[in-house]
Formats: sequence, structure tokens, C-alpha cells
Amino acid sequence: MTPSAGRPSMLIAYPIAEQAIALARSRALVDLHESTDALSPRELAERLRGQQGLVCLITDRIDDALLSACPDLRVVSNVAVGFNNVDVPAATRRGVVITNTPDVLTDTTADYAWALLMATARRVVEADRFVRQGQWTKWEFNLFIGNDVHGSTLGIVGFGRIGRAMARRAAGFGMRVLYQDPVGADAAVERELRATRVDLPTLLRESDFVTVHTPLLADTRHLIGAEALRSMKRTAHLVNAARGPVVDEAALLAALKAGTIAGAGLDVFEVEPGRHEEFAGLDNVVLAPHIASGSFATRIKMATLAVENCLAVLEGKTPPTPVNPEVLRGR
Ligand code: DGY
Repeated sequence: MTPSAGRPSMLIAYPIAEQAIALARSRALVDLHESTDALSPRELAERLRGQQGLVCLITDRIDDALLSACPDLRVVSNVAVGFNNVDVPAATRRGVVITNTPDVLTDTTADYAWALLMATARRVVEADRFVRQGQWTKWEFNLFIGNDVHGSTLGIVGFGRIGRAMARRAAGFGMRVLYQDPVGADAAVERELRATRVDLPTLLRESDFVTVHTPLLADTRHLIGAEALRSMKRTAHLVNAARGPVVDEAALLAALKAGTIAGAGLDVFEVEPGRHEEFAGLDNVVLAPHIASGSFATRIKMATLAVENCLAVLEGKTPPTPVNPEVLRGR
């Protein structure tokens, strides 16, 4: 703990949920960045000087240069399950604990990925636009006909918490579930979720819906590229609520334009934020601004867990959800 007032210090780099900020203030000296505009890397380094903890979002880049400029920093608490904005090996080398917010957002994120799946399959957004624009002047038998979700095959790329939550939802729709993951699930989990592990080519070839839930790693970057898209059914839909760069966007755009696949639902993009005009010009894609975990309740849970993680490290306790627990063992 810092000698000043006997309390540890932290920067909260975004006005996250007020309950979480109040929790932080009850046990630490808090510098809160009150604007929803992210701090620039230089501002972040300046504000962090002398701070022991940081609560930040995925929009904050935590790299070796920042870590080396902040020698007092002991914990970086990311308000997200993904942590590809953080150089974890550099943090581990420097003895900085990194934490994330798994579990609390699993079902909320899966709900939204499912909404994208339904929206692209049944053309919900196109139909909404049509009615709003006053174009609905006669009843037509084939108006906005789409693809059935029930009874179809769901291919889940990445069978972690959120991938498995998608499998649970698929059961209610009587779907066959295939999954691809470098690590196979326990037989009991496969049985419970009625999910079969296959290789990626098989999954792409046989699925009517391919949904991506893998973290962004060196070997998952552009995992879904031109070849993968070509091997999917022409009637298939792709959903990505994981990380944009897992899908090669240029290849996806080409596939959507050419009708190589039927449609896509995207919550994430290679560059965020952005106007994404090329996608916006296509009817067979549903777009969202990286909001899959954004329900009122879940945002509060994420913010609270992030603050609990940060406080725990600063108070010499074990944080609930560390990313690099080896740093804790070395304390
Ligand atoms: C996550 O948690 O990683 C989301 O993408 C951001 O909320």
C-alpha cells in the first residue's frame, strides 16, 4: 500500500459504472478520467505516473513502453474478457498483474451473438428498414424470405465459455452442434451440449451457421479467410462477436458481394471504431458497434469485477480473475 493515507492508488481510465467507482473510492485513492473520450497513450502515461493500479478498457493500449514509463504500476485490470490490447508477456516480465472479466459477460455476449445469428438468417434489419422507409405497399409471398435456424447445423469456432453458451442456445432450436477448438471439451460437456468436435474444414463445410468465439491470437488472426469462406455453404451465415481480426474482412466483403455465403452478423471489426462503408452498402450483413456484452446488468458486473480485481492486488490478496497468475506466485 502507498504510505499516503494508507490507501492504494489507482487510475480509472473511463467513467465505468458508478457502483464500481464508489467501491474503488471506498478503499483506494482514485483518479477518475471522467470523459468517455479515451486518454491518448501520452495522456495515459502521464495520468498513470505514481499510480499503483489501472482499470481500463480494451481501447487502452497497454504496451511495454507504457509499462516501462509507470514503474509503480502493480496491476492492470481490463474491463473485458478479451485482453489483446495488453502486452501480457511484457507485464509478466515486469511483475505487473493483468486481470480480465470472464464469466460475468458470457450469457449476455452469447445472447447478442444469437441475436445477430437470427437477424442475418431471417433478414430482420432489412425488413425493418423496408417498413420504416414506407416501401411495404403489398403483401408478397417471397418477401424477405430467409434461412431457417431451427433444425440446422451450428458450427462454433472456439469452444470456451461463450462458445459453449451458444451451444446451449442451439439446443433450444433443435440444432446439430459442431465445434472446433485446439482443446477438446470433456466427454461429459460434449454430451450435455450435444456438441461434436471436428476440424475446421469439416465445420466450415457442414455448418449452416458459423459463429466465431476464439480469442485473437497470432494463430487465430484471419482464421476465417478467403479459403475458409469459399468452403462454406452458399446458404451459410457467419457471425463474429469475438474479435474483428479473426476474420479477414476484405475476404468477407468479397464473399458477401459475390454470394459465396448468404450473410453475416458482425459485432466486431478489424478497425474499431469506424464507418465501415463497404459493409454498410450491403444488405446481407447486420452490423453492430462491438456491444455484445452491453446489457445494463452485465456492464455493472464487469466494472465491479474489474475494480475488485484491482483492489485485491493492491491489498495483497489474490484477485478473482487474473490473466497471468504466475506474477502472483512470484510476490
Ligand atoms: C470483451 O469483454 O472482450 C468485449 O469484447 C468487450 O466488452
